[in-house]
Amino acid sequence: MAFRIGVMISGRGSNLAAVLRAKDRRELSAEVAVVLSDQPTAMGLDFARQANIPIEIVERKPKERSSEAFNEALLHTLLPYKLDLIVLAGFMRIITASFIDGFDRKVLNIHPSLLPAFKGANAQRLALEAGASESGCTVHFVTPDVDSGPIVAQARVPVLGGDTIETLSARILAEEHKILPAAIEAIALGQVRITRGGELELRNDVSGGPLRQFLIPSS
Ligand code: GRF
Repeated sequence: MAFRIGVMISGRGSNLAAVLRAKDRRELSAEVAVVLSDQPTAMGLDFARQANIPIEIVERKPKERSSEAFNEALLHTLLPYKLDLIVLAGFMRIITASFIDGFDRKVLNIHPSLLPAFKGANAQRLALEAGASESGCTVHFVTPDVDSGPIVAQARVPVLGGDTIETLSARILAEEHKILPAAIEAIALGQVRITRGGELELRNDVSGGPLRQFLIPSS
């Protein structure tokens, strides 16, 4: 049976598009079973529509729902899809422990820095302000501490003199689009997994698999 993923987005959805492209190229065996957004007008939803993927909208209205109630709504919306992995691809809301536990910690995120450097929403700006000579992107499993969970893979890019947030973000994004589908495929193939205790487990063949050209933690 296909490995089923749910992708959660809030905006542009270029990482979702990269996942769907990888599928078209047969570099990804996982099936995108649902796309969820907290923003009904998210541009990225068009990629789901074009690919005939079911869409779920779960809005968090100010004062209407607590973060916990919002996360419960997310969980109960996605549970019927029987997903093997949740992928946060530009989902701009905080995910709580009840959601993460509800999916046995099988929740992945893509972040535009070399974690643990530059956590949070303005990672590219922080890298520029720090005068970093390189930055990059990280795919990691999600824990209740934002941008802190076990790292699956990373890709580096140089920070160039004269870079702006836009130019650096574009250079990082190009790598995001490679590393995210590769990480999903490595997980779908069983080369990388998260245990119930929250530990990352790598199989010997991980460095010869889809993640081979990326930085992967040592087993
Ligand atoms: C990406 O930079 C991702 O790393 C961050 O949010 C952005 C989403 O971009 N978490 P997109 O919506 O996938 O184009």
